[in-house]
Amino acid sequence: MADGMAIPKDMPRELVFEFDIYADPRIGEDVQGDYFKLLSRAPDIFWTPCNGGHWVVRRYDAISEITKDYEHFSVREMQIPRVPNPPFFIPLSLDPPANIPYRQVMMPAFSPKCVAEMEPKLREWAKRMVDEVADKGHCDFLHEIAARYPVSIFMELMGMDLARLREFRDMADEFFNAHDPEGLERAGAEIMGVLTNLMEQKKKSPGKDLVTHFLTVDVEGRKLRDDEVLAMIFILFLGGMDTVTNVTAFAYRQLAGDPTLQARLVADPALIPKFVEEALRCFAVVNSPRLVVKDTERFGVKFHAGEMVLNMLPMGGRDDRCVDDPSRFNIDRQQSTHITFSSGPHLCLGHLLARAEMRILTEEWLKRVPRFRLTPGKAHPFRIGTVCAILSLPLEWDVQPAV
Ligand code: HEM
Repeated sequence: MADGMAIPKDMPRELVFEFDIYADPRIGEDVQGDYFKLLSRAPDIFWTPCNGGHWVVRRYDAISEITKDYEHFSVREMQIPRVPNPPFFIPLSLDPPANIPYRQVMMPAFSPKCVAEMEPKLREWAKRMVDEVADKGHCDFLHEIAARYPVSIFMELMGMDLARLREFRDMADEFFNAHDPEGLERAGAEIMGVLTNLMEQKKKSPGKDLVTHFLTVDVEGRKLRDDEVLAMIFILFLGGMDTVTNVTAFAYRQLAGDPTLQARLVADPALIPKFVEEALRCFAVVNSPRLVVKDTERFGVKFHAGEMVLNMLPMGGRDDRCVDDPSRFNIDRQQSTHITFSSGPHLCLGHLLARAEMRILTEEWLKRVPRFRLTPGKAHPFRIGTVCAILSLPLEWDVQPAV
């Protein structure tokens, strides 16, 4: 075992399994499939000595229980290994009851009614982006579609000037592609600068957008402070962009390799929501950490205060105790069991919006590009960690002659 690996003295040996969430060489580009193959050999809950040492939870029922039990498993720190000043987001870094007023402020914007009202805009953006590539016969789906689409939607939600789409998209690209702490800090500061200016501008001329809503809403008899508003906008930026981009990219890699499924979805677009749901089950991308704040025993394992726990949400959707043949992508399942959006007090606020974005993009994509394939000979670089990603997805198709 390498130096610097941490195994507490009283840790039962049978619970130790070496797994590096940031760089395990056994995880290849079929990230979620490789997680399944590798971690099926590990205990249901195990201690990895990598990255300072932490617990890993891979079963649906245990993940569900831990994400709901905020008295023992807190969101106060979500960084592995632990750092002195972990990032702070609202409401994600607050345990109940402190998170509740903020969630209540955000929730109406993501209600079924609001998401339905956004649909024409989502479609307009999807159409525009698909139109830009359809006649070329090829694209890097990740960069030209999957990463761009959620940026425009975020800007729309925030009431940002859409003429600045390219500039803001470049900033978002820089942020999500930064691999070192300095690069991340620089790109984060740039985005915070833009968001702070936006907030100041909305104070002067309010609009019908989320920033104005956060600035004017009454929360338990007071207005939100600027730092609270910014911490809320920033989680929407993080939560709403990289995640949608990455699940969509994994889903399209799957679809590109399955001409029969493409033909079925083209012939019957009513099946597209099932495709989206199966993609969400198979290609979850978030691994969600918690800090143990009170000693407790669960599923026969003793957790101690101060230890970190990683909930492997992608394994939740591939739990063979809940899903038959979990590695098979099958849109005809009667029921889709997954925990891709977490559960409990921090259940993703944007899950309806995310589903709508993926459905609408697929409807528009298949209208213009009904048959497509992976560009032969091209690799699909990927990233693993707390948010997994494909970093490039070259696709090609035969351009339909104009009639
Ligand atoms: C497929 C796309 C998405 C996935 C897989 C996803 C996943 C998640 C997960 C797993 C969490 C909870 C993390 C935890 O419990 O530790 C979360 C929280 C959150 N997500 Fe998403 N998300 C997606 C899309 C979105 C979108 C589109 C938005 C909004 C624009 C959004 C906004 C949020 C917010 C605000 C939270 C924090 C909720 C809270 O702490 O109460 N997400 N998301």
